[in-house]
Amino acid sequence: MTGGLWFGGDYNPEQWDKEIWAEDDALMREARVNTATVGVFSWSAIEPAEGRYEFGWLDATLDRLHSRGVRVVLATPTASPPPWFTLAYPDAMPVTREGTRLWHGSRDTYCAAAPAYRSAALRIAEALARRYAGHPALAMWHIHNEYGTVCWCDHAASAFRDWLRRRYSRGENGLDALNEAWGTAFWSQRYSAWEQVLPPRATQWRPNPSQTLDYGRFWSDELLAAFRQQRDAIRRQTPQIPVTTNFMLSGHYQVLDSWAWSREVDVVAIDHYLGTAGADGAIDIAFGSDRARSWGGGRPWMLMEQAASLVSDSGLMLHREPGRMLRDSLGYVARGSDSVLFFQWRASRAGAESFHAAMVPHAGRDSRIFAEIAGLGQALERVGEIAGSTVRADVAVLWDADSWWALEDKGLPSADVRYLDAVRADHAALWRAGVVCDFIHPEGDLSGYRLIFASAAYLLSDEGAWSLRGYVEGGGHLVVSFLSGIVDSSHHVRLGGYPGALRDVLGIRVEEFHPLRSGTGIRLSTGERGTLWSEYLRSEGAQVLAAYADGPLAGCPAVTRNSLRDGTAWYVSTRLDEHAQDRIVGEALAAAGAGPVLPGLPPGVEVVRREGGGRSWLFALNHTGEPAVLPVTGLELLSGRPATGQLELPPGAVAVVREHHAGG
Ligand code: GLA
Repeated sequence: MTGGLWFGGDYNPEQWDKEIWAEDDALMREARVNTATVGVFSWSAIEPAEGRYEFGWLDATLDRLHSRGVRVVLATPTASPPPWFTLAYPDAMPVTREGTRLWHGSRDTYCAAAPAYRSAALRIAEALARRYAGHPALAMWHIHNEYGTVCWCDHAASAFRDWLRRRYSRGENGLDALNEAWGTAFWSQRYSAWEQVLPPRATQWRPNPSQTLDYGRFWSDELLAAFRQQRDAIRRQTPQIPVTTNFMLSGHYQVLDSWAWSREVDVVAIDHYLGTAGADGAIDIAFGSDRARSWGGGRPWMLMEQAASLVSDSGLMLHREPGRMLRDSLGYVARGSDSVLFFQWRASRAGAESFHAAMVPHAGRDSRIFAEIAGLGQALERVGEIAGSTVRADVAVLWDADSWWALEDKGLPSADVRYLDAVRADHAALWRAGVVCDFIHPEGDLSGYRLIFASAAYLLSDEGAWSLRGYVEGGGHLVVSFLSGIVDSSHHVRLGGYPGALRDVLGIRVEEFHPLRSGTGIRLSTGERGTLWSEYLRSEGAQVLAAYADGPLAGCPAVTRNSLRDGTAWYVSTRLDEHAQDRIVGEALAAAGAGPVLPGLPPGVEVVRREGGGRSWLFALNHTGEPAVLPVTGLELLSGRPATGQLELPPGAVAVVREHHAGG
């Protein structure tokens, strides 16, 4: 990405007439919009009948945007095939787990494994690439939109079998390897021919967890193959233009293996919609941002979509209070985003998302939201020099789609334990401690981190387990939560006591799980509390930091610490209350020699540093209702005022300081 911070959003001129286009031009200029994502859902406008293209309106849009100085992120419209496609190729429509074939009438309705879909998608991507290869407005390709539709049809089944053949083709007979990996001796599931192998479609009771896990892996790969097909065709026409696709970060919905996907895009782009309008929104932003940055190996990334105002909060659409859009947006930028883009530029007047927030609301220019958008555009210009700089972290949290998928298994002793909750809990504790962290795959390069959290790392491959052991032995600090290291990469339980993959690293042995009913808790010897989970745990060399004080587990260790060669590993066997969690995280940070960017700040004042080209910038975000004072020296870019040793930050305010270093 070049040219400062990218600011703008999805632009859908096909929904409007010429007068509105003229107003769009004026309002974009006023708001200092420099980027428009065009064409995301335009398939039926570009190809109204099979093989007949109408590019006129799109030519005019790109020309117009270019003449106004707005760069274009051009999308391939393949997330929403037109109705003619459904009728011509009904077999390319997705089939649910229950066997229902879906119809057009919404969006994202296609099967990525269907040959007809794949070739139609490739054709329109190639047509767009040929047409716009030399267009001066074209700054980036945006393939598809939020890959995520899963299908269980016969095309999917056949592609699944091919994928399985490749995965299990070691040995003489791949099918034996599959039977072994899926544990098909249980419940008479043994396969005697490949044709019998199906996706995990609706069945009488619990599906086979190893099969379900492989289906998750396969489908991520299948969607990735669809992405690659378009990307490679586009790259042949425009090798110099970066290509991306927008990952949807949405609650407990996880279809893509983000590590594998991030290796295939030129820049990681995420869509991030806050899950709460409350104070935790800031942690939510940090959580999305830290993942995006980490997936891209620390390089600047893109916020491709956020909402201009209303935020879906437990089913209600709540608005962000005045001023928060600037602070929230700079929250993403602080953690490495080089863009602030929205869905969408102008609120639609028809369709399923008419009441979705937009940069230009239904009320038009004369509105609080547009005024804030214009203010945001100005602010982003003022801090534009930070583009390209990066964020460093020496603490990391493990992130692994395999663990997420495996932990969704219905056969676990508690349905209340969710992967995302566990990871978020550790990330939030670090946020409260003022520490910026990365995410890392268990088999990734752990060597740069002083402290690593394994949060519900339920599935650990042999390589992952070795990697964590080597990390600790080499002097690393590791905090492991319950339900980590339980199964191997085939979803088979590691025997001999939990957590099989990490028992000796942690110096403990767990004989039994004691999940806790929701709404109940368990007292610890420290006076603190645990919820959700507890375990019958014995120390095998680890020091006991807290024991259970209640019920059948009274006297058993609850939190332990073990020394292994040059490193230290903590184990936390319950969901600690916030106080206890912050205490343990504080202890681990101190032992690891890691800490916040600026120590001693009041809770809720967030500080992150970006660095690059020998300079550094401090982002300070005051999420509290009280003014804060920060020890900073430099130039505050939003106001243009110098900060000499002290920076006053009013409630709700944000500052970006180009730091002056002693002697610099
Ligand atoms: C997604 C899509 C957009 C829009 C928004 C609404 O992120 O990419 O097209 O539907 O959700 O929040």
